[in-house]
Amino acid sequence: TVFQRAMEGKEQSTGGLHFVGKKDEMIEAKRSFRTLEGRDILIIYHQGGFYAMDSYCYHAGGMLQNGDIEEIDGKLCIICPNHKYKLSLAKGECIYKGTDPREKPPVPRWYSKGVKQRTHMVTETNGEVYVKLSEDTSWIESDYYQGEKGKVERAKA
Ligand code: FES
Repeated sequence: TVFQRAMEGKEQSTGGLHFVGKKDEMIEAKRSFRTLEGRDILIIYHQGGFYAMDSYCYHAGGMLQNGDIEEIDGKLCIICPNHKYKLSLAKGECIYKGTDPREKPPVPRWYSKGVKQRTHMVTETNGEVYVKLSEDTSWIESDYYQGEKGKVERAKA
């Protein structure tokens, strides 16, 4: 699996920290695509903060680097250009607007589907930016598009 491959790669890297670029260049670029340990990652600079997540949307493999960023219900989210799913930058939660039919009258509110997109840790030291891949061993739906089957499917779309 992708996860096993990621774990194997990790043993060879020092502390799992990957240098991804100079801070000023990463800020200038706003969005940077990197392949780390065989995993395709999107690194985002937005409103003074760095974020990293799997670059293909968990829903159907959409290219998140082309998505707009908006604050929704107090969370910064990237909006997948394909079907407009909203994924929080910090946690990879999928946020959606829904109504509770038991409510009279139903009022639309924001709900979370939980963590669907794998996010990774970004740190900066001395003007350099590093990414450490997520060590969460549970399956997160965006893992699918990092695997062989998912990659083939994405290429067909
Ligand atoms: Fe991202 Fe469908 S592929 S919302």
